[in-house]
Amino acid sequence: MLISGAKLLKKAHEGGYAVGAFNFNNMEIAQAIFEAANEVSSPIIVQCSEGAIKYAGADMLHAIVKTLSEKYPHIPVALNLDHGTSFESCVHAIAHGFTSVMIDASHHNFEENLAITKEVVRVAHAADVGVEAELGRLMGIEDNIVVEGKNASLVDPDEAEKFVKESGVDYLAPAIGTSHGAFKFKGEPKLEFELLKEVKRRTGIPLVLHGASSIPDEVRASFEQTGGDLKGSKGVPANFLELAIKGGINKVNTDTDLRIAFMAQVRKVVKEKPSEIDPRNYFKPARAAVVAMLIERMKVLGSAGKI
Ligand code: G3H
Ligand code: 13P
Ligand code: ZN
Repeated sequence: MLISGAKLLKKAHEGGYAVGAFNFNNMEIAQAIFEAANEVSSPIIVQCSEGAIKYAGADMLHAIVKTLSEKYPHIPVALNLDHGTSFESCVHAIAHGFTSVMIDASHHNFEENLAITKEVVRVAHAADVGVEAELGRLMGIEDNIVVEGKNASLVDPDEAEKFVKESGVDYLAPAIGTSHGAFKFKGEPKLEFELLKEVKRRTGIPLVLHGASSIPDEVRASFEQTGGDLKGSKGVPANFLELAIKGGINKVNTDTDLRIAFMAQVRKVVKEKPSEIDPRNYFKPARAAVVAMLIERMKVLGSAGKI
């Protein structure tokens, strides 16, 4: 059942667990997400970046999710626009049946971020669509900006409290030290758990962890066994995800893990069967690998068994 992201995450917030928000831009990955959710009885959020929409079209991506949600009517699912960069982009997603939008105006200053987010909330709530915003900035591993002794790339709890109160946003992504992609930490993984707890205490709403891929050893190994290069890659360890959920995270954004798991199997077929020309024989094992990885992830997030 396709439902509002706000409704789905309110339940996770009250129940103290997190729902995986998994990116997709093709049928096979969307199928894998639903299959895994069905296997372990988990609610899910499926999400598309603006790049995914450019690649496949909002109408196509919505149609895939609508079809799958009708095939698995017992699975609560929200379709989220991931990192919408403008009011127009959010309106476009809402017009195409998305039930959640992220307005990512975190590259603007606080007041501008607040003003844009308020406008999105006004339109989205009229359509029963949940809204996510981001405070602080997700950076590359060495890009942190220090201003007046404070790390300006991390969320500021005072700002978070004011922002949530004034914007009416349903869930918030506070930057606590993660970044997108496969190379998240230079040394030991480190996240600002105390800061996270403070933001949760001050806002009292569902919180979102971006850049949450773990890059499990077996997934990295399967990619590297076929000559793939992920040297120096480092994800958020599974026990950090559990700590983040204890600290108030209810939506865990994951894309990189799905990409690696999927492409490792495509690479394997390329390597082992050089004369294979049927795309289905590449994508079938790739889809199965994503299902297996997601089943484990949903257990870590605590969403398994929550239907
Ligand atoms: O947040 C970023 C997601 O991994 C989406 O990435 O813009 O390449 O689709 P993308
Ligand atoms: P990863 O790159 O860690 O999978 O993060 C994805 C994400 O945050 C999408 O918004
Ligand atoms: Zn993100």
